[in-house]
Amino acid sequence: MERIVVHGGRPLSGAVRISGAKNAALPIMAASILTEGPTVLRRVPRLTDVETIAEILRALGVSVDWIGRDSLLLAPRRTGPCVAPLDLVRQMRASICVLGPLLAMRGAAKVPMPGGCVIGPRPIDLHLRGLSALGAAMEIEGPYIRAWAGRLRGTRVNLAGPHGSTVLGTANVVMAAALARGRTVIEHAACEPEIQDLVAFLNACGARIAGAGTRRLVIEGVQRLHGTEHTIIPDRIEAGTFLAAAASTGGAVTLRGARPDHMQAVIEVMKRMGVDFRRVEGGLTVSRSGPLRPVSLVTSPYPGLPTDMQPQLSVLLCLAGGKSTVREGVYPCRFAHVPQLQRMGARISHGQGRAVIQGVGRLHGATVNAAALREGAALVVAGLAAQGLTTIRGVDQIDRGYQALEERLEELGADIRRVEVESAEGPTRKSA
Ligand code: EPU
Repeated sequence: MERIVVHGGRPLSGAVRISGAKNAALPIMAASILTEGPTVLRRVPRLTDVETIAEILRALGVSVDWIGRDSLLLAPRRTGPCVAPLDLVRQMRASICVLGPLLAMRGAAKVPMPGGCVIGPRPIDLHLRGLSALGAAMEIEGPYIRAWAGRLRGTRVNLAGPHGSTVLGTANVVMAAALARGRTVIEHAACEPEIQDLVAFLNACGARIAGAGTRRLVIEGVQRLHGTEHTIIPDRIEAGTFLAAAASTGGAVTLRGARPDHMQAVIEVMKRMGVDFRRVEGGLTVSRSGPLRPVSLVTSPYPGLPTDMQPQLSVLLCLAGGKSTVREGVYPCRFAHVPQLQRMGARISHGQGRAVIQGVGRLHGATVNAAALREGAALVVAGLAAQGLTTIRGVDQIDRGYQALEERLEELGADIRRVEVESAEGPTRKSA
């Protein structure tokens, strides 16, 4: 069993290079099923979630190999198995995005239902609605969704859900529509940078998709897609987590290779908290000299404030003087970090999708549990700023989305390390 141990209170300083985006890499890897011919992906982060989807793809007959530090070679077969392994899919929700490509390319798919998790219910009704509209037949068979179709037909699909659009649902429908006969129009499509990156990848493979970055995607189906070479966009959530880490400790850190244009909402809210930003050659420098200020924040789909930054930003609000409010507009139950932060001295109450944070100025170290990926990252941020020793359990959650996090923080001056302990813990649940 591994733990991350942090002695808090050291301001961070220096520069850190931002990795490729996990949430862009995962659907783009799944999209390789659609292509005839190999694809090379660059700037792929070395994460357990990436290894998991690579295993799923191998089980589906795609060969997946690292060909360098951060490049992957994916070589699909036109035909092959259509059943995604239950144990692997259950580890990661993003594996649902093999459903659309399998249907479009191989005419059949059997993919386990991904469950709910600690960030709240994660239904897939919009994915299924979109794929059915394209002509797929579906039934639930035990833990699996079984779907089949002849060639899919272009149509009009509305992906509006109760909390806005759906990111992976949009990915699934776009991938399936890329090979459908005729035109598909997706209304209320997700416009996250990760979807823009998927569309850029598909277009580089020969797809004809317009409207990326808007709420309306228009896809003219093509007969076939070829492989390509593509570089994954930088991870805006990893970058935001480093911003929060720097701001929590009062240091000055330069992000190299980040895309500030993808992070406007996070930067804007942190400025309101009293954090300073400066564009520098090839990067963005974040620093804080004064105290953190309380704010009200609301998460929502892009270009709004990302829910995946809510736990980390909540830590900053614990360190501010005064009362802040947080409204979670995407996952109203995403507050698993709250009891852990309370152990560190935070004063937070929450209910009905809202938290009220009474800033306490300073947190103290404690032993805490990472219930999910971003929640775990928030505990690292809290530990960096806290007085004394913080021990974080559930490190496997953090490894799903952050590459060598503690090594990179150590290079920035943090007193942080990973330790092996003997005692066994019960299994932790997975989310992203
Ligand atoms: N929703 C439905 N029906 C659906 C699908 C979603 O009602 O069929 C609801 C969800 O319950 C939620 C909202 O729509 O309230 C948005 O969910 P969405 O489908 O957009 O989430 P996702 O695509 O499953 C991706 C990221 C998440 C990120 C969300 C929101 C990946 C692999 N995951 O999930 O990332 O929180 O978008 O931005 O791209 C993470 O990286 O830590 C993580 C959880």
